[in-house]
Order: sequence, then structure tokens, then C-alpha cells
Amino acid sequence: MTSPAASGVVVRHVTEDDFPDWLLAHKVGFLRPPVVTDEEVALRRKVLDPERTRGAFDGARCVGTFLSFAQELTAVGGTAVPAGAVTGVTVSPTHRRRGVLSRMMNAELAEAKERGDVVSTLCPTEYPIYGRYGFGPAAWTTVWDVDVTRAGLDPRWSGPEDGGRVDLVDGAAIRETAPAVHDRVRAVRHGVVSRSERVWQRDTGVDLAPGEPWTEPFYVVYRDASGEPAGHAAYTVERERDGGAQPIGTAGVRELMAATPAAERALWRYLCAIDRVTRVRSGRRAPDDLLPELLPDPRAARVVSHVDLLWVRVLDVVRALESRTYETAGSLVLEVRDRAGLAEGRFRLEASPEGAACGPTTETPELIVDVAELGALWLGESSVARLVVLGRAEETRAGAAARADLLLRAARRAWCPDVF
Ligand SMILES: CC(C)(COP(=O)(O)OP(=O)(O)OC[C@H]1O[C@@H](n2cnc3c(N)ncnc32)[C@H](O)[C@@H]1OP(=O)(O)O)[C@@H](O)C(=O)NCCC(=O)NCCS
Repeated sequence: MTSPAASGVVVRHVTEDDFPDWLLAHKVGFLRPPVVTDEEVALRRKVLDPERTRGAFDGARCVGTFLSFAQELTAVGGTAVPAGAVTGVTVSPTHRRRGVLSRMMNAELAEAKERGDVVSTLCPTEYPIYGRYGFGPAAWTTVWDVDVTRAGLDPRWSGPEDGGRVDLVDGAAIRETAPAVHDRVRAVRHGVVSRSERVWQRDTGVDLAPGEPWTEPFYVVYRDASGEPAGHAAYTVERERDGGAQPIGTAGVRELMAATPAAERALWRYLCAIDRVTRVRSGRRAPDDLLPELLPDPRAARVVSHVDLLWVRVLDVVRALESRTYETAGSLVLEVRDRAGLAEGRFRLEASPEGAACGPTTETPELIVDVAELGALWLGESSVARLVVLGRAEETRAGAAARADLLLRAARRAWCPDVF
């Protein structure tokens, strides 16, 4: 049913003049106080690209916001594919459930396909919103709490034993050394997304919007024996007392990025050796993160949360499947169903550790899946056998599910450290 109010709503790209109204609608949608200052508008002008920013307008009033930005997402094996990252999605409560989001999303996905993006990505606030547009959860994150007092670590630890060192630095130093470390990580770890310079600034407290809460964290950099930065961490500490003489401190990790196993080990070891810190909250890690296993007693690391974080919508099946690596050789005729038609089709994949070729085919399909399942399969995060049992994949040739599972598996879990 289309209400009279919705029928008059126009969805279009914004102009610079729309920014104040657009920002107001953005705040309304995310339930922030509905006040927009000139300073905020000026700040947003620096980062908002009108060509990638949409608004829904009811007369002069902006009632819907939507934007996308160019991103790279690392596929299994380390190749970065172009992605259209979707964010800033709101529809004002006065105009909800009238198809405004659908109009903005359909326009974006068509444009993303046209641009040549291999996938679209987003981090949903609520699970039920985006499946209908072909997105599906494709990377999960786990947060651990480490009870340092029970981890079995040697309390006399005084620094890395591998010739490297850990130094406290400031945000400016992080902006200098951390992007290179991040690039090294995303060149090998699937699920990691690219970061713009603006992200590094925001995450180190530069040019924050007025009123945006900020606590300056402690930053540390790990340098290997040659002096090369190979990892960094940012953390804050909450201090309490247990009512008696014992100090209790929780180090909350905002980020820990390590380009080498030595850096990863040293940074966790450092965090678990800060005097008066009795608990370390890990921040968002890959589900197969090394952390628990780095502790003599892994049970000292308790899972606090385990959630789907990165959702992927495949737009170009051929380029997606050709861009990743495969550990075994095999073939698969896959039918992808996509009610938006963007990724619909039947494809033959021939893959081996040496490379992969994928193309449209008229052969009988061996496996049928909806495009919303494809993102997780592509990132090696799903089991076809399980999807078949769930009724979310159809095996039309006996043995195809097992073959697909062997072909699509990845040795490590996908990790998306960012929320965008
Ligand atoms: C989420 C939001 C953008 C949806 O906008 P909307 O214009 O109401 O969505 P639409 O009317 O286009 O909805 C399309 C379909 O999705 C469904 N849907 C939309 N939001 C939903 C939600 N939160 N939960 C379940 N279903 C939802 C609608 O019921 C509709 O279903 P139908 O096609 O079967 O009728 C809006 O509710 C909002 O701004 N929420 C607060 C901010 C927010 O959470 N943004 C998302 C950031 S990732």
C-alpha cells in the first residue's frame, strides 16, 4: 500500500545546498538530538560526496538518507575487489514502511553494478532489513574478555623476547605508521576492508563532529628487531576498586592490528601485562583469532559476543569467483537466483590452486542458491551442506554440495575489523 505522503517522496542525489536538511534527517533517523550546527555542516562538506549521497525528499523536507563510498574488500587469497560500501541509511519515523529505503537501495545497487563494483557491503543495525536486497551475513566477529589473573601468564614479563619492542605513541604517530601495517594485513586476510585517510583521522580523534564523544586512547606500536612497525594497538582503561585493596582495571581494545605473528603475540602479551589491568576486552576479532590460544589457559578468555558484522551482496558473480583463490581443484555449475536480476544466472566455475575461470553456462545446474547466500560462500564462511539442510541451497546433482564445500573452504575465517 502506498500512502499519499510516500507517493510524493522524491529520491535523488543531494546537492551541497541539501546538506543541512540531509544531516538533520540523518540525526533524526539515528535518534540523535535534531540540531545541526554550521560547524557540523562544514565538516560534512569535506567528506560527503554528493554523487554518492542520496536523499528522500517530501517537499522541502529530507526524510531519508543513504550514502555509499568506494571500498576495497579482500577476497580469499588476498585480492582486493571493488566494493560499494553502503552507510548512513535512515528513513524518518514519519515516513517509515512506505518503501523509501527500497527505492534508495534499488537505485544504489543498479548504480553500483553500472560502476563495476563486484560486491556491495554494509554493517546492518538490525538483521531483518537487508536480506531482501540480496545481502547476507558474510563475516562474523567475536569479542573476548580475558581474565588476566587466570590466564597463567608469567607476571614478570618485561617486553617482547624476540628482539622487537613495544612503544607508547600518540595519534599522529599512528596515522603515520598504522596504514602500512593495515595494508599488509588486508593483503592477506579476507574480509578486511580498505580505510580512507579520513577513517584514520576519525579513529585518532581528528576533526570529530561537535559533541561526538571521544576519549583519547593509549596507543602502542610494535616494532620488529629491524625497527620496522609491524603492529599497533589502541586501548582505553576503566579503573575501579573492588571495595578493598585490590585494583580492578579493564583495558578495552579499540584496535589491534598485527602484520606478523610476532607482533600479534607481543601486543596481546603487552595488553595482558599492564599493571592494575585485570581484564582485557578484546574488541572485534575474527572468530578464529589467536588470542585464546596465546594464553597458557585459553579458558581465561570468555566469549562476550559473537555476531554477524559484514554483510555482502554479490553484484558480479564471475569476477567475484575468479578473484579468490581455491585450495583444491574442482568444478561447479552454480545457479544464482536474484530477484533484482543483478547477479542472476547460471555459471560454471573451474578452479584449482593455480587459478579460476568462471563464465555463464547453459548446462544443468548442480547447485542452486539465492544471491544472499553467495557472499558468505564466496568468503569461505558458509557450509553448502548446512545450507541444503536448512533449505537455503538446492543440490540438484548428488555430491555437488560436498564438492562445493571442498572448493570454497578457506583455511582462516574472514575478518572485518571495521564497522562502517
Ligand atoms: C531501517 C529503515 C531505514 C527502513 O526504512 P523504510 O523506508 O521503513 O523501509 P521500506 O519501507 O523500504 O522497507 C522495505 C521492506 O523492508 C522491511 N523492513 C524495513 N525495515 C525493517 C526492519 N527494521 N525490520 C524488519 N523489516 C524491515 C519493510 O517491512 C518492508 O517489507 P516488505 O517489502 O515486505 O513490505 C528505517 O526503519 C530506519 O531509518 N531505521 C532507523 C535507522 C537504522 O536503523 N538504519 C539502518 C542502518 S544500517
